[in-house]
Amino acid sequence: MSKPIRIGIIGAGGIARGAHIPSYQSYGRDVEVVSVSNHNKEKAVECAEQFSIPHAYENEQQMLDEMDLDAVSICTPNKFHAAQAIAALKAGCHVLCEKPPAMTAEEAETMAWEAEKAGRILTYGFHFRFQPEVESLKKYIDGHELGEIYAAKTHYNRRRGIPGWGVFTNKELQGGGTLIDNGVHMLDTALYLMGYPKPKTVLGATYQKIGHRPGVGLMGEWDDENFSVEDMARGMITFENGSSLMFESTFAANIEELSSKKVSIVGDQGGAELFPLKIFQEKYDTLVDTTPAYVEKRDVHESLVHDFIECMLHDKQPVSTPSEGVLIQQIIQALYESAKTGEAVNI
Ligand SMILES: NC(=O)c1ccc[n+]([C@@H]2O[C@H](COP(=O)([O-])OP(=O)(O)OC[C@H]3O[C@@H](n4cnc5c(N)ncnc54)[C@H](O)[C@@H]3O)[C@@H](O)[C@H]2O)c1
Repeated sequence: MSKPIRIGIIGAGGIARGAHIPSYQSYGRDVEVVSVSNHNKEKAVECAEQFSIPHAYENEQQMLDEMDLDAVSICTPNKFHAAQAIAALKAGCHVLCEKPPAMTAEEAETMAWEAEKAGRILTYGFHFRFQPEVESLKKYIDGHELGEIYAAKTHYNRRRGIPGWGVFTNKELQGGGTLIDNGVHMLDTALYLMGYPKPKTVLGATYQKIGHRPGVGLMGEWDDENFSVEDMARGMITFENGSSLMFESTFAANIEELSSKKVSIVGDQGGAELFPLKIFQEKYDTLVDTTPAYVEKRDVHESLVHDFIECMLHDKQPVSTPSEGVLIQQIIQALYESAKTGEAVNI
């Protein structure tokens, strides 16, 4: 039997403990999480003990130098994604980096370039792609059931869903708020279903109207005094192929629903909505709607990690690619720039 794939974890917080580590450990004997690193050593040690991981580090470079790893998961605040991914790629590791890819488009480009140079996998934590309904709609789209896709719309809104833990409200460490945190998931899902067209022009607006004052926290009590990110982001993106996408996300806003997310895709042969999945078509002179009779329930974080492992074991390309990481980061950057200047940004 061949040796198990040796995994290292960088960042021992919520997503590492809640998703990545248990998902590697549930895969079976082909994989072993051998080390964890966190800039706060106590956290690394605590995490290692919690999951029976043999080695704990406070410095990820030392871990990369000493542990002979095959792959790492990067589960740190966004500010550190690029440098840590590049260090891991240079050490010969495959990399699963949490979303968003980075803080800037330039960082995402360098990450993509380093992955290419190293001949290693670089993929991102866009787990919504593993939702059965998203997979199903992608098959409809690839089967030309919607025809030419020319318009899309997406939102991921929370009424009072500012995270009360971590550093999600710290602009310096995260690069932004709702757009780069929850919004980015729906932005990626819409772009994925549209075939990741090349963006052309981006018009954005961001607001900070609620997070800087105390209020009802449905995702814990947030730190209103140090709230330095946007609580609402909106935008319109046009693409070189003529298609367009409207986007909105909120951490907090005075809206009816406590939490709501949707992706709408419009093609010349059919349209579709997620979540839940509905398909709208005209067939045999009849306007018809299609809905699934059954949708599998799945732990999509586990699916993402298991797919990463399968890609390493069987030399496959992951569903989320470095070049898509560059495109989404270009859009995020342009949305923030446009929001700042009030002008549309050409990419
Ligand atoms: N895919 C998803 O649904 C999802 C969900 C949550 C978080 N995330 C992403 O995962 C990342 C981490 O989020 P989290 O919720 O685990 O946050 P967290 O605050 O719970 O954990 C982050 C950990 O990283 C450590 N850390 C901070 N700076 C570090 C550094 N320079 N080097 C090493 N360790 C460092 C912190 O001490 C902490 O233990 C973020 O990029 C976030 O966007 C993704």
